[in-house]
Amino acid sequence: MTATAAVTVRVPAKVNVQLAVGGRRPDGFHDLANVFLAVGLYDHVTASPAPDLRITGEGRDIASVPLDPSNLAARAAVALAARHGIEPRVHLHIRKDIPVAGGMAGGSADAAGALVACDALWGLGTPREDLLAICAELGSDVPFSLAGGAALGEGRGEILTPLEVGGTFSWVFAAADGGLSTPAVYRECDRLRREQGGGDGIGDVPAPQADPRLLEALRAGDVHGLAAALANDLQAAALSLRPDLARTLRAGADAGALAALVSGSGPTCAFLVSDGETAAKVAHTLGPAARPALSPAPGATLLP
Ligand code: C5P
Repeated sequence: MTATAAVTVRVPAKVNVQLAVGGRRPDGFHDLANVFLAVGLYDHVTASPAPDLRITGEGRDIASVPLDPSNLAARAAVALAARHGIEPRVHLHIRKDIPVAGGMAGGSADAAGALVACDALWGLGTPREDLLAICAELGSDVPFSLAGGAALGEGRGEILTPLEVGGTFSWVFAAADGGLSTPAVYRECDRLRREQGGGDGIGDVPAPQADPRLLEALRAGDVHGLAAALANDLQAAALSLRPDLARTLRAGADAGALAALVSGSGPTCAFLVSDGETAAKVAHTLGPAARPALSPAPGATLLP
């Protein structure tokens, strides 16, 4: 154990520049080809010593975050302590800036942040592979929140291959009122597939594949190539549950975005833009809930 008083970890949001969704597996999850890009919108998780596990929070939408043991950050602290046979005596404080239930992996970011913060607070020095394994148990997107940068996520999204990114991409993210439940969006995706007569099982849907044009655009830092290749198989399902998002997507495109898509399971809408000036214009058009951000961003980072 160390005498550290408090440690703070900064963790990025993500956007899926490609989300190819395969059929529903027997375990209920879907195989993915999930191209993650970390973006510079951050939550901060501070861990400090406490007699018991305690969790508090502040920031945008904090009222809709469960500040109790069900919070993924609290579960991360419990899982790390269990791995080392110690008690999770920690106060976790989450400062939220990532939209809640917005399709930007805010909950996953807090879990990854809590793991890194508790590991430092408790002086454990857990190997990175072990941290990533705990992340994968906590949720499909949590390993990427720890890793950051850009990566291809396969399996249910937790098997990561880092990707090279040859430049900086500029985005605007428009948070929507209220969240969308990720399981509900996957269920709607399955329902739409059945309705269209194709079936929703593993044998009914082509195996998801990363798009080579998209990977090349990322590698080359080619914003126009990336704009042309953005794709999200959950978008139709998110729009079916939230038809109002179509208006937001159109407004951002009309204001000068190169491309617009729903981020992950939504309802946040993501707009890829050519430069900072256009980002400011698009953000202004979309209103106060719209935020410019750059990518890629580093993963969970211990702040000095
Ligand atoms: O892994 P995570 O807890 O984030 O997943 C939340 C829910 O999203 C799952 O219970 C499942 O309904 C859905 N999901 C899925 N296929 C994936 C990832 C998530 O069906 N690859």
